Amino acid sequence: MSKTFDIGIDALRQNHGNGDLPPDSVGSRHAVPVSIIAPPEVSRAKSFYIETFGCQMNVHDSEKVAGVLLGRGYRAVDDAAQADLLLYNTCSIREKAAQKVFSRLNDFKFAAKANEKVIAVLGCVAQQEGEEIFERAPWVSLVCGSASYRKLPELFERLESGGRRVTGLDLDTEETFETEITRRDNPFRAYLTIIEGCDYSCAYCVVPHTRGPERSRASDSVLAEVRRLADAGYTEIQLLGQTVNSYRDPSPRGLNFAGMLRAVAKIDGIRRVRFTTSHPNDFRREIIEAIDEIPALCDHIHLPVQSGSTRILKAMRRTYNREEYLEKLSWIRSSRRPISVTSDVIIGFPGETDEDFKETLTLLDAAQFDSVFAFKYSPRPNTPSLSMPDVIPEEEKSRRLAILQERQRQIQIARNEKLVGETFEVLVDGRHAARGQWSGRTTSNRILNFTSSRENILGEYLQVRVTRGGPNSLVGEHAELQ
Ligand code: 5AD
Ligand code: SF4
Repeated sequence: MSKTFDIGIDALRQNHGNGDLPPDSVGSRHAVPVSIIAPPEVSRAKSFYIETFGCQMNVHDSEKVAGVLLGRGYRAVDDAAQADLLLYNTCSIREKAAQKVFSRLNDFKFAAKANEKVIAVLGCVAQQEGEEIFERAPWVSLVCGSASYRKLPELFERLESGGRRVTGLDLDTEETFETEITRRDNPFRAYLTIIEGCDYSCAYCVVPHTRGPERSRASDSVLAEVRRLADAGYTEIQLLGQTVNSYRDPSPRGLNFAGMLRAVAKIDGIRRVRFTTSHPNDFRREIIEAIDEIPALCDHIHLPVQSGSTRILKAMRRTYNREEYLEKLSWIRSSRRPISVTSDVIIGFPGETDEDFKETLTLLDAAQFDSVFAFKYSPRPNTPSLSMPDVIPEEEKSRRLAILQERQRQIQIARNEKLVGETFEVLVDGRHAARGQWSGRTTSNRILNFTSSRENILGEYLQVRVTRGGPNSLVGEHAELQ
């Protein structure tokens, strides 16, 4: 088994200790560049910069890719223009995200052509477009999908010895990506992938094509990493997977997802365990039972519903209907803890009628989600829905999206207002100097912006009383007991 080192936490703590800090947000678009003070021999080494698009899985993959490079003696720089090796870790879940990459590839076209930079395309666009990327952008030297990251050391070696048009595009794998070094970019929350790929085949989704088949990581390796993270000072862990709750330990210990949650929460020093994304089909009561019993398991579940119409859910091949989803939600709502539930919705899937859309709106009323990420349906290559009839016009999708967002906004305002006067424990993870506010997350993953008479409280757990509720965050004050 390989040994993993986590670096950067102390440097990062200091880094976040002054000035404005953008709070870590769900679906953050950039890996936070980290300055690591390098010894002189390293500062002469080749430099790299990674730009990350898309989900937390990508953000964390970039942390591991950075670890592989640091292990090879590269140094991280926080400006793309300064980097010898420039890597784009890409997302293709919707068309816009994929297009962004191709426009970005032009930024350093001339430098790459003049051999001043080596450019690599990683992630979902790499897997999806494959060698076609070399045709569209011949100055790119490496194209590698996430299912081939295990091969990165070998692929980097080929680049280092002058290789061009290097590819890692195999999808057929049973392995997960484990690294000896991981450069963690978030000093407060450590991401950790426990399951990669996806075996579902939702009609709209590229993930099974870009990330490959589902494969779980052995529990020993996961738990050893959590122990090292706790030793390094992390108190909050976020377990990641496209369908995280489908986790099945491949080792003889045979933990299921609820068993894994319990095992992680037991590790000394771990105060908060989060997980994302859950698939409704694999959502079992045991998960709620574990959250009920163990305070370290956070009371937040991200459970994408995608549509409130059973007819559309069937066309989407989601494997559950409206009633089954609402039943699982009722288990969550009958928990002893006030578990917050967030969700994803797709608007304007082919064939979605006004009636179907209304069912999504009534589902929002019934579900009372704490937050919803709503997306206009985006047709993607190699997906079954690409050839489905009754395409919804773009303007109609926009109209429905605006209606849905307004409905959900009202729900959130009402829910958040009810929290005024309550006190929550927050992990302080940001400072808005201009507003004189600190920012933290509750166990339910709500953002709480607050004032405090204390200084240097980043990374601390504090009790904060809510004084005001907005649609997307809460405002409060930390009253220190004398
Ligand atoms: N179009 C729009 N949204 C999509 N998602 C996945 N594929 C598509 C698509 N083709 C959304 C789903 C998923 C989230 C990560 O992205 O809601 O849960
Ligand atoms: Fe995509 Fe469906 Fe798999 Fe989620 S469960 S990654 S939406 S195919």
